[in-house]
Amino acid sequence: MSLPIEIEDLNVFYGDFRAVDGVSMTIAPNSVTALIGPSGCGKSTFLRTLNRMHEVIPGAYAEGTVKIDGQNIYGPGVDPVNVRRRVGMVFQKPNPFPTMSIAENVLAGVKLNNKRVSRAEADQIVEVSLRGANLWEEVKNRLNKPGGGLSGGQQQRLCIARTIAVKPEVVLMDEPASALDPISTLAIEDLIGELKKDYTIVIVTHNMQQAARVSDKTGFFNIAGTGTPGKLIEYDDTNTIFNSPANKQTEDYVSGRFG
Ligand SMILES: Nc1ncnc2c1ncn2[C@@H]1O[C@H](COP(=O)(O)OP(=O)(O)OP(=O)(O)O)[C@@H](O)[C@H]1O
Ligand SMILES: [Mg+2]
Repeated sequence: MSLPIEIEDLNVFYGDFRAVDGVSMTIAPNSVTALIGPSGCGKSTFLRTLNRMHEVIPGAYAEGTVKIDGQNIYGPGVDPVNVRRRVGMVFQKPNPFPTMSIAENVLAGVKLNNKRVSRAEADQIVEVSLRGANLWEEVKNRLNKPGGGLSGGQQQRLCIARTIAVKPEVVLMDEPASALDPISTLAIEDLIGELKKDYTIVIVTHNMQQAARVSDKTGFFNIAGTGTPGKLIEYDDTNTIFNSPANKQTEDYVSGRFG
């Protein structure tokens, strides 16, 4: 099941430093939203607040509301571990457990959630998740070989399989293809297109062609200067952001005049 995300006046801090200021946006289910903007404008910081990963950094916290399917994940009594199960995350550098087998990597998150699964269920989860990540055909005959033995692009798809194995509702991706070659990048982009049938996806990317190719909506973040907080400048259909943005800063950025 894919769920909407409603963000209301979100402010994000590292101790005294306000890194992101006053972001409000609504993300539709079964859509891909791309976040773009110059380095340091708070894209990764903002993304990590959507599954309460931000606050694991000492002194880091967020203020405001992030509702997933109407429930505020920052509300009283909400268990962040449960939020992270519902909102999965894929990082810039593929981070499989290198010595664990491919199959164990896929199951790692499932086991972390203390779910008891039978051997048959485990096999099923491994196959369905690897198929979902477009990796099954390439690894089906080496499921017991180490995850570290895969190529970079395969490792990233393995990490995506590990993320979807726990059946999240939302998948966050922080520059998931930036460490990959062009072929692997296209494989990941195709996969994102497939995944949106089942998930709400938010992706940070520096690659504007990629944002234009994969996303339905695009949010442009910017900072006024070093030490000032990042703000969401414009958020609209991807087509509009790239072809007829309302804001001059957006236009300058997407036309390559800065950043
Ligand atoms: N752990 C941290 N402690 C303190 N400040 C941090 C921390 N991580 C990031 N920041 C600061 O927060 C601001 C936003 O950083 P963030 O990493 O979110 O930017 P970004 O838009 O993802 O940049 P990039 O495109 O380079 O990845 C920056 O000023 C950064 O220095
Ligand atoms: Mg970043």
